[in-house]
Amino acid sequence: PRSLRAHAETAGLLVGCAVVPDRLSGEPAYGSLVADQANILVAENAMKWQALRPSPDKFDFRGGDELLAFAAAHGQKVRGHNLCWHEALPSWFAGTVTKENAQGFLIQHIQTVAGHFAGKLHSWDVVNEAVDPKSGRADGLRVSPWLEMIGPDYIELAFHAARQADPAALLTYNDYGIENDGADSREKRGQVMMLVRRLKARGVPIDAVGIQSHLTVNDPMPGAGLIDFVRELGRMGLQVFITELDANEHKVEGSVAERDAAVARLYRDYVTMMVAEPNVTAVLTWGITDRYTWLNGQKTARPDGKPQRCLPFDSDDQPVPAFFALRDAI
Ligand code: XIL
Repeated sequence: PRSLRAHAETAGLLVGCAVVPDRLSGEPAYGSLVADQANILVAENAMKWQALRPSPDKFDFRGGDELLAFAAAHGQKVRGHNLCWHEALPSWFAGTVTKENAQGFLIQHIQTVAGHFAGKLHSWDVVNEAVDPKSGRADGLRVSPWLEMIGPDYIELAFHAARQADPAALLTYNDYGIENDGADSREKRGQVMMLVRRLKARGVPIDAVGIQSHLTVNDPMPGAGLIDFVRELGRMGLQVFITELDANEHKVEGSVAERDAAVARLYRDYVTMMVAEPNVTAVLTWGITDRYTWLNGQKTARPDGKPQRCLPFDSDDQPVPAFFALRDAI
């Protein structure tokens, strides 16, 4: 069948997925699936602190460089993920990074990493998941190591450092749990909007918001509230990327065909609604084949223990109904 990539190129959209760089060359079937289906890639883990920073004074860019070489060979863009997050920190982090030196570590990391890839990336997730309504803070910020050591200014410091190190990349704030019409999602979406407004008001260089879109079948549907949010970002001059789309089907019972149909409906309805907005310019799934989805991990696994069918290709790399739904939505 015609690929996601072919449809996206006709539509003037970016469509792609998160990948594991060594598989691109190490597993030919995986490499050709990714080459055929995507015009934009992102590293699932290879450009996080933990992967790049074996020790406080060493950087290891092998995974990221391999990804960029593959993308260049196949005419694909690459997103950087991510420069600042409360997870995937190296084991040496706690104990080495302190209140006194945290700002220096963050800025030096961004200068070095965004500097290394400068001019080659479509966008960077500069700050990932900084909002947490459960923190109880008036500003909605998550109580993360960065917040505790630097204070709320760490976000703008990160964006300024990223702009300086790579003026060409679109600088993105990326978060999850802001998609649907349930109360938790509405609250968090409001806090993300507050954060973005504060950043814009202070002249912080931000170009886009990433809506992760780890969706769950049978949760409240994303709807008008999300579209209002996307449009408000548009009025502020910001693009929106769907950065980590997948459809967790752990609440769906029934046959494989029924599960696949439910997942496909969610892909179709969600992506159709989002790409109708002119400032939604990229759609990336979090992986491409069910063989490697992160959703079989503990909290997100199906209660019956069956592997998740949450991505456009099944574990034999065959297109499932979600593939056709996504393709036809773009
Ligand atoms: C996940 C990866 O998929 C896993 O392999 C890893 O063990 C943990 O991180 N939000 C994000 C991503 O921004 O970086 C996360 O990726 C999924 C949730």
